[in-house]
Amino acid sequence: MVELTLPKESRINSQGRVFPAPEGAKKPRTFRIYRFDPDSGENPRVDSYTIDMAACGPMVLDALIKIKNEVDPTLSFRRSCREGICGSCAMNIDGVNTLACTRACEDIGKADVKIYPLPHMPVVKDLIPDLTQFYAQYAAVKPWLISRTPAPPDRERLQSKEDQEKIDRPSACILCACCSTSCPSYWWNSDRYLGPAALLAAYRWIIDSRDEATGERLDELEDPFKLYRCHTIMNCTEACPKDLNPARAIASIKRMIAERQH
Ligand code: SF4
Ligand code: SF4
Ligand code: FES
Repeated sequence: MVELTLPKESRINSQGRVFPAPEGAKKPRTFRIYRFDPDSGENPRVDSYTIDMAACGPMVLDALIKIKNEVDPTLSFRRSCREGICGSCAMNIDGVNTLACTRACEDIGKADVKIYPLPHMPVVKDLIPDLTQFYAQYAAVKPWLISRTPAPPDRERLQSKEDQEKIDRPSACILCACCSTSCPSYWWNSDRYLGPAALLAAYRWIIDSRDEATGERLDELEDPFKLYRCHTIMNCTEACPKDLNPARAIASIKRMIAERQH
């Protein structure tokens, strides 16, 4: 195991390590960040880092990168695009599941910025949740086109403008998991309830005019746990940083199943 050498000025309080503002900081701001390394055998803790926002980009991800680069290289988090496209920087910031790269520090108010991993997921390290099950649930809804009719030899499978517009918004899901990890039904039944992200993906293919497995897809979902654990609490739609509406998609799937029974 690599032995961590703390910067000289750091100290430890009852909650975790404290890294004070650099000398001469013009705009100090404190970030209180969840730290946990399952391999260490130590309990989780909350470390405090005060950095100079006058020398930092505006987003929470900018602050995390600054802390990792300049203060504490042991801090672990995921990020890639920095543009709200890849979904990898999803975490719980100031009590809300969101993307660190699109959340401006200034919008969080004056208090310390509290950062935790997405809730109710196993933690790989620090702010990195284990999304193995989340991705398996996504794969379980077969998020690809199923068609028995051969594609035309000379062009793509075309859709009308109206049909394309139906799948336009649900296709914009970036699989960040903000929705599923904000859903109480998912917290308590994540082994059997598919959760809003996977169900939004299922909906996207159910309503695709080119897909020929609509009946099978609905059969798969007609299950007391996979679909019907959703109690329309709406946390998912509140949480989505892309302004998508998984709760409405789930309600539509339930309606389609109910209507075909008549
Ligand atoms: S609407 Fe359904 S999926 Fe969304 S948070 Fe509520 S219970 Fe979960
Ligand atoms: S529906 Fe929204 S919150 Fe849920 S995974 Fe997709 S982009 Fe993220
Ligand atoms: S880094 Fe890609 S969404 Fe934030």
